[in-house]
Amino acid sequence: MQGKFVIVTGANAGIGKATAAALADKGATVVLACRSKERGEAALNELSCVNGRCFALMHLDLADLDSVRAFAAAFAERYGRLDVLVNNAGILGGRRLLTKQGFEMAFGVNYLGAFLLTMLLLPLLEQSEQGRIIMMTSVAHGWVDVRFDDLNYTHGYNRFLAYGHSKLCNLLFTRALSEKLRARGSRVTINAVHPGIVATDIVVNRVTGRFRWVADLMRLFFLSCEEGAETSVFLASDPALSRVNGEYFVNCKIESSSLDSKDLEKANRLYDVSLKLCQITMDPLPPPRPRILI
Ligand SMILES: NC(=O)c1ccc[n+]([C@@H]2O[C@H](COP(=O)([O-])OP(=O)(O)OC[C@H]3O[C@@H](n4cnc5c(N)ncnc54)[C@H](OP(=O)(O)O)[C@@H]3O)[C@@H](O)[C@H]2O)c1
Repeated sequence: MQGKFVIVTGANAGIGKATAAALADKGATVVLACRSKERGEAALNELSCVNGRCFALMHLDLADLDSVRAFAAAFAERYGRLDVLVNNAGILGGRRLLTKQGFEMAFGVNYLGAFLLTMLLLPLLEQSEQGRIIMMTSVAHGWVDVRFDDLNYTHGYNRFLAYGHSKLCNLLFTRALSEKLRARGSRVTINAVHPGIVATDIVVNRVTGRFRWVADLMRLFFLSCEEGAETSVFLASDPALSRVNGEYFVNCKIESSSLDSKDLEKANRLYDVSLKLCQITMDPLPPPRPRILI
């Protein structure tokens, strides 16, 4: 990864922090994209303790599409290149909350913010020798089908179902975008990851500290953050994966995802709806590459 530029969202904690550390250890320059200045700086200080690692910290709040746009513009201006985007950040959520633009929080943070970020950074990934996008999903994607008539869960909200729904959207996006990139002859790939059940603070309320005891208990039984980061790191760095596109990975291996997540019609429909929700009017995809016939 020497000389490569990587963004990891939600890199101040859990799997994201471990992913950032491992990729920096492989020689990449890693931008920690974090919503909290305080938690971001704490992670930056901790991670930078190891000699030779190269990090930068930038602000990104996926619950605000204006923040996503500001991040993408600032990143492009500062670095002008990107090799790997790890869309890691995510929330499990509690009671039903809305993002700044009024989207249900899990849908907005876990999916729509990452969708917009990816579309805005595609031109930079296109310029890379072989750009890669990694979407963090979960086995929870299999709990639900996509709710085109109620993407924001105004009816029958349940935190676990809303979480599963957002993770299904991530897989459908992986499917739709991989097909579109392939059809245009792009070298950019997008793959999705379930990291395993990992002992992180995902269950802990960041404001009140509620459910800290659950996180502490999890550490006795589940994977460490470093183990949870292994598949993302593999997808970001293994040279053998340069043509692997649109797949679902668990434990560094391709696995079958739910039937709904493989439905290309649904995937394309969600993609079109998402462009509208993000108010993207121009075609954000790269122009088709000319095919060389020998
Ligand atoms: N842990 C598991 O067993 C498991 C299983 C399957 C999938 N996953 C997925 O793995 C990913 C990482 O989760 P984790 O378990 O490592 O949880 P975590 O320790 O809670 O880390 C989540 C990260 O996302 C960030 N984040 C939350 N809301 C954000 C926002 N609005 N904008 C930007 N960043 C935001 C958090 O920042 P703050 O510190 O500021 O909150 C934190 O850095 C998630 O997508 C999760 O769904 C986890």
